[in-house]
Amino acid sequence: MLQASYPYFLANTPVSPNQSLPVYDKYSGEIATRVALADAEAIDQAIAAASAAAEPMRKLPAHKRQSILYHCVQRFEERFEELAEALCIEAGKPIKDARGEVTRLIDTFRIAAEESVRIGGEVVPMDISPRAEGYTGMWKRVPIGPCSFISPFNFPLNLAAHKVAPALAAGCPFILKPASLTPVGALIIGEILAETDLPVGAFSILPCRRDAADLFTTDDRLKLLSFTGSPEVGWDLKARAGKKPVVLELGGNAACIVDEGSDVDDAVTRIVFGAYYQSGQSCISVQRIMVHERHYEEMREKLTAAVKALKSGDPKDETTFIGPMISEKEAARLHSWVQEAKEAGARVLAGGERDGAMLQATLLENVPANTDINCQEAFGPVAILSSFSDFNAALDEVNNSDFGLQAGIFTRDIYKIQKAWDELDVGGVIIGDVPSWRVDHMPYGGVKDSGLGREGVRYAIEDMTELRLLVVRNPY
Ligand code: SIN
Repeated sequence: MLQASYPYFLANTPVSPNQSLPVYDKYSGEIATRVALADAEAIDQAIAAASAAAEPMRKLPAHKRQSILYHCVQRFEERFEELAEALCIEAGKPIKDARGEVTRLIDTFRIAAEESVRIGGEVVPMDISPRAEGYTGMWKRVPIGPCSFISPFNFPLNLAAHKVAPALAAGCPFILKPASLTPVGALIIGEILAETDLPVGAFSILPCRRDAADLFTTDDRLKLLSFTGSPEVGWDLKARAGKKPVVLELGGNAACIVDEGSDVDDAVTRIVFGAYYQSGQSCISVQRIMVHERHYEEMREKLTAAVKALKSGDPKDETTFIGPMISEKEAARLHSWVQEAKEAGARVLAGGERDGAMLQATLLENVPANTDINCQEAFGPVAILSSFSDFNAALDEVNNSDFGLQAGIFTRDIYKIQKAWDELDVGGVIIGDVPSWRVDHMPYGGVKDSGLGREGVRYAIEDMTELRLLVVRNPY
């Protein structure tokens, strides 16, 4: 059960102002709860508090940062079902996927707890020429300072955790704007952080309207902006972020190649998961499936049957695989792309119909190259099937995209694996599985329109710290 309302957190303290935001149950469409809504003044106060907390956070010993992160791990475990239920309601995420996300939240905080005590440095030999004899160099990492985080609706807990947990590990205060459609998960994280003795100002979690949120991007007191969300918004934020470094985790239209000699049944099972779990609302959801011509007929038949068999309905039902998309507007947008592709000659193998926010799991073939469903990010339960005869041409086709997040390849050929790893213009290549595969300590992020920088705790800690060099001269 959700609480009737949730406060926001300003400088570690729960606040319930007059203004609030309704949060809808994405399946029933009813108001499920309300969350406190921050205005520009509250955001300004949060930034001032985060700036004041920069020094106490920098001085917080590693073992204390670790204890705080382990406290979160323990409390997430204790509140596991409540967190899963919150996701199920506010994001319309099928309960099994919601539990999967809570498990990943716990992983992310546990990894951060482990990393927090091993943020080290390096000794650098200096005597590379006679003029540097007698000098020694070494560097360590220092926290970058107050960070600005904006997290998306599709993983309300874990994609907020990928910013919050590394910041705590590194010793950076932060302000977080969770997605307005799904703010509850992040506010529960806030409740748990408020149980710790983090320095005042170390964290603020502030649901707010986009027009009040400008300071998250433009304020110079913030030393890093880390955004996960749509490419359109992300690149615009970067243009307005001033001198601060920016990390962008944006979208994709991920491709999956099924090469000659693959186990078709295994590929079908994994692709159904990768394309349709949580209604395809993942940046690494399988969108373009490229199958070697030898397996195409078999793959089409088996994949079509598997997609048609997916059970859709109430995400609270343990047997539901396809729940609603985040909003009727998003479902209508994607449905119109399916219609456009049909009019351009595509064939619907499965699905294709919509009822409100519920879009059927949809599989298309013969999709013309210039359609939105091929070129843009679907971010929903629609995938397209095509065949290839030449592996190199399939790699070119993967690269024939404005995006480059992850690609998946089913192949048993080590030389093709090496070629794909060398030549695919993406952040990660997943062999023997779908591009949608991720564990939370691996470097994760994209190239081209898919973003800048990498998350994955250790890599986020690198962005949240700066190298500080020490050079020592020994004249004797
Ligand atoms: C994303 O949608 O970018 C994240 C996918 C994941 O963490 O599995």
